[in-house]
Amino acid sequence: MKAPLATSILALAAVSVAAGAATAAELAIVSGAVGNDIQELRRQLDVFQERTGHTVEIVTMPPSTSDQFSQYRLWLSAQNADIDVYRTDVIWAPQLAEHLVDLTEAAADVTGEHFPAIIESQTVDGKLVALPMFTDAPALYYRKDLLEKHGRSVPSTWAELEETAKAVVEAEGSTDLFGFVFQGAAYEGLTCDALEWVKSNGGGQVVEADGTISVNNENAAAALEMVRGWIGTIAPEGVLGYKEEDSRGVWQTGNAVFMRNWPYAYALGNGDDSAVKDKFDVVPLPVGASGDGSAATLGGWNLAVSRYSDEQESAIELVKFLASAEAQKERAINSSRLPTMASLYKDADILDKQPVIGKWLPIFEQAVPRPSAPTKGKYNQVSQEFWTAVHNTLSGNGSAADNLAELERSLKRVRRSGW
Ligand code: GLC
Repeated sequence: MKAPLATSILALAAVSVAAGAATAAELAIVSGAVGNDIQELRRQLDVFQERTGHTVEIVTMPPSTSDQFSQYRLWLSAQNADIDVYRTDVIWAPQLAEHLVDLTEAAADVTGEHFPAIIESQTVDGKLVALPMFTDAPALYYRKDLLEKHGRSVPSTWAELEETAKAVVEAEGSTDLFGFVFQGAAYEGLTCDALEWVKSNGGGQVVEADGTISVNNENAAAALEMVRGWIGTIAPEGVLGYKEEDSRGVWQTGNAVFMRNWPYAYALGNGDDSAVKDKFDVVPLPVGASGDGSAATLGGWNLAVSRYSDEQESAIELVKFLASAEAQKERAINSSRLPTMASLYKDADILDKQPVIGKWLPIFEQAVPRPSAPTKGKYNQVSQEFWTAVHNTLSGNGSAADNLAELERSLKRVRRSGW
């Protein structure tokens, strides 16, 4: 017997609703943030939702990459199915690889658009574990107005920076003004800053690409003693607790002559609510007395799909959207985040709105990687030992030479028979 027409239409409607529900996924992305990262992400997710019918919730994390790493490792070890997409730091690929979906095939049509070195950094044993969202290489931010006013040139060595910072602060005579702010808290950010001091002073890269532990040397010790001398003089005592946003806070209220930070601080520093709008510029970080060039630690963030996600296909769609040229261009213009595609460094809109990006291509290309590839799954322990030795030295807890000798012993214990 034929069903009455109305019943058939209802049945049809039910089928199409069910089909719609099957294709519209509810996704969750977890992300840490500095500056406007979350607002920018939400704006892009709204576009994705409108285009695909999927919905995406953001799970926000504390800003410290070290805190994020601990949490992600717990969730992934517990095979947590609530998170589909993780925003991952460039250094994490080897440590989290086993929990992440291999994107090699699904992203084969877009990997060629990205810098090969970044794709390589996210490839572990032939498996592409994340797609690049943006890359990172730090700058020395300096106050054009203050240097000009006091007849000072932009420093190219750390000794010049120290001297200039002292002179400008003294001449300004304000107790609110500091010479230099950076990331001195005991976390991954200090590993980045300290790698720059050490490497730019001819002290190597802590653990070299071939796995050799190199950090216990005179140039490294001299670099750390130099920085210890800055605490409470050109830098506030409090810098030993500063992460990126703390330094930016001091800088952006006009209370620092120099700042070491990542490019995101550029767009924010030129925002309408910034006390340093149009008063600053950026140059590569200075060189040490025993070094032969400036060193910028390579940073950057990527997007990975959890193996424990029930919505892997839609999650991959989301990752590809957030890593696309369209999304990267928007992020570059709004938040001065460095794109991971060579083509975008020639994009007229980006160069016009954020001139730092054009200038920063060579800095990114020569940036120094942290030893995450050679130390593999042990990188986090290596980094933690390193930042602890540095933090102790800067706090006046032991000399640089003693702390680096002890660090070498600890790193050998961490390595045991091999990385
Ligand atoms: C930036 C970098 C990241 C690094 C972190 C340290 O976010 O992009 O790679 O680990 O700073 O704080």
